[in-house]
Amino acid sequence: MTKLLYLIASCLLKLSLEIDTDAPCKVVSCSDSLSENVCVHQDGETIQVKACPTNYTCSNLAQFGDWNSWKDSSCSEDVPETKESNCTGNHELVTYNECCSNDDCFSKKCNDGHCKSIKVGHYCKIDDHCEPSYYCSSNNLCVQSLVTGTPCLASSQCAVGIGCNQYTYTCISFFSLGFGKASNEAKYCKSNYVRNGKCDRVSIYVDNVKLEEPFYCTVPSTCTYKWDSDNTTDTTAPCQCAGVGSNIGFCNPSLGPVRGISDVFWPKFQYSDSSCSGDDGSSIDIDTLYFCNAVSDDGKNYYNEMMTIFSDWALYHSGAIDNCSEALKLYNPSYKMDSWSKGHLPLLASFMLYLILS
Ligand SMILES: *[C@@H]1O[C@H](CO)[C@@H](O)[C@H](O)[C@H]1NC(C)=O
Ligand SMILES: *[C@@H]1O[C@H](CO)[C@@H](O)[C@H](O)[C@H]1NC(C)=O
Ligand SMILES: *[C@@H]1O[C@H](CO)[C@@H](O)[C@H](O)[C@H]1NC(C)=O
Ligand SMILES: *[C@@H]1O[C@H](CO)[C@@H](O)[C@H](O)[C@H]1NC(C)=O
Repeated sequence: MTKLLYLIASCLLKLSLEIDTDAPCKVVSCSDSLSENVCVHQDGETIQVKACPTNYTCSNLAQFGDWNSWKDSSCSEDVPETKESNCTGNHELVTYNECCSNDDCFSKKCNDGHCKSIKVGHYCKIDDHCEPSYYCSSNNLCVQSLVTGTPCLASSQCAVGIGCNQYTYTCISFFSLGFGKASNEAKYCKSNYVRNGKCDRVSIYVDNVKLEEPFYCTVPSTCTYKWDSDNTTDTTAPCQCAGVGSNIGFCNPSLGPVRGISDVFWPKFQYSDSSCSGDDGSSIDIDTLYFCNAVSDDGKNYYNEMMTIFSDWALYHSGAIDNCSEALKLYNPSYKMDSWSKGHLPLLASFMLYLILS
């Protein structure tokens, strides 16, 4: 009897060592053996993931931020984007909007599918009617915008990619003000965050210890995001599992304007050229920036890659599903914070090298 109990006990111990049911974090791994159209399957302490076929997307990718609570998911067919035409023939479209005929544009000129702008000194109703870096003056004429460093009263007076800081009444570049500088708009700050009239950012703490990138923590513990300006807490969130079992995790930097992340990322998106004017010429929305040629293909790609890395930070750092993350339309494991910066033209550079070598 004692022997039997001993056997059962040792069996249970062995079982628990193999499966490690006490580990707070599950293991995530790429698997080829899932049946067709299944992209996430939880099998005991293991979560298996598999990429979906072409034109299909895993239906529950939102759960990837907190994947320890993943649910089984299947692939669903992509719905093709339908682009509605804005061509009404009502002379409504502004500078660089897509048009079908001259009648669609305020300027009455549709060239190569884009509305031309109103020339300097001619009649406009809004800033968006004028050329990039021109604005509509109070007497309804397009006039040249102000450059960085000049005194201003309103943001519309400042050229593309810059705005009027209402604390200094000076045209300043987006994402240019450091921590603690006075600003009335988030987008003038490097961190793209303003709080109590100043550019602010957060640092991540666990048990009152300030973490540095990549914000390693153990599960369970609480990541506390505190404002650098006064150490008050902005938000708290659980340490996220890294997908390699045991208690290995990371605090997620996408939950706030984190020091060393936000204030490094956003300044890369400063711009001084755009095909758009008015609202679109002072946008920081990535799709608008891309459409308006203020950001290149590489820049838009960088933005999207980094957004997936930020949201799947723990998996990205553990490498648990590096083999299939791209196929799953998640992050690119070889991508890094410094994979792109403006003026960094890998294609042009390699072309020059090719010219030199040949
Ligand atoms: C995927 O969708 C695109 C656009 O709808 C289509 O051209 C392509 O043939 C599809 N590919 C497959 C493998 O179904
Ligand atoms: C129509 O306008 C909307 C809103 O400005 C824009 O998102 C969309 O891309 C435009 N469509 C086309 C075909 O230009
Ligand atoms: C915040 O706390 C840190 C120590 O954790 C201290 O060095 C720093 O001066 C504090 N900052 C403010 C604004 O109180
Ligand atoms: C990734 O794939 C390679 C080759 O297919 C394999 O040797 C390796 O074990 C895989 N790594 C993981 C973490 O699945």
